[in-house]
Amino acid sequence: MESAMRMKEKTIAFLQPYAKELLLHQMVVIPFSIKSIHCFEQTAQQFEQLLLSESRRYIRSWELKLRDDDEADDGIIVRKDKKHDPKTFFHFRPGLTEELTRRNVNFARYHSFLEHASGDYYTCNEHMLALAAALDREAPGFYFHEKLLASEIPRRGVYRILWYPSIGKKLGAILAQEHTDKSCITYHLWDRTAGLRYGEDKVQYLAEPGTVLVFWGKKAPILTNGLAQPLLHDVVNCVQAENARMASIFFGHTAP
Ligand SMILES: [Fe+2]
Repeated sequence: MESAMRMKEKTIAFLQPYAKELLLHQMVVIPFSIKSIHCFEQTAQQFEQLLLSESRRYIRSWELKLRDDDEADDGIIVRKDKKHDPKTFFHFRPGLTEELTRRNVNFARYHSFLEHASGDYYTCNEHMLALAAALDREAPGFYFHEKLLASEIPRRGVYRILWYPSIGKKLGAILAQEHTDKSCITYHLWDRTAGLRYGEDKVQYLAEPGTVLVFWGKKAPILTNGLAQPLLHDVVNCVQAENARMASIFFGHTAP
């Protein structure tokens, strides 16, 4: 059996051309394990099940903050205010299950959902660190791996499942206004329907099976003296879907 070190080395070598492309083009499509992508989809379905079967009050009991800062939204957040695009999302970081327990939220029927979310989080975290090591070989001196690793675990990344109430919205309606992410690196992992558009020309992103889209967020230019630029993107309603639009994302953050 191959040693863990050798496996890690192989992954970094595999990711190196993608790291190069990411540095040159703000974004890159990377082959990803179909099994993992299937897991992301299953976890998203479990989240939707929770949203559709529980009371608003119960859903609100999952709204938490694991850290003492304004940006830290954890658990389930329902956004309806005028400042943001209306959406509901789930944020998983390590420590979430413990916090739900501490607050006496009865999540017995969602154990499997939380375990899946945790598994997805660590899959992404590990991949991001390997990509960071590959980035270091392509652009030495920016210390991608060290800076991402230096973030304490709850700050390093967040696994998000988005649920947009697109039902009844017109084709072409904007679900998320044009923006760049607050992250350093964003992994667009899975979506139920197309809708993500990127760049000045608003190119529609259509995921090929077994791939994820990786792009830079706002922290990337700070880390790289402007070499890596964040990708502008928005989301439109582009299908007459019977279900809400859903997407899974992993945001990687560098230490401040
Ligand atoms: Fe975004």
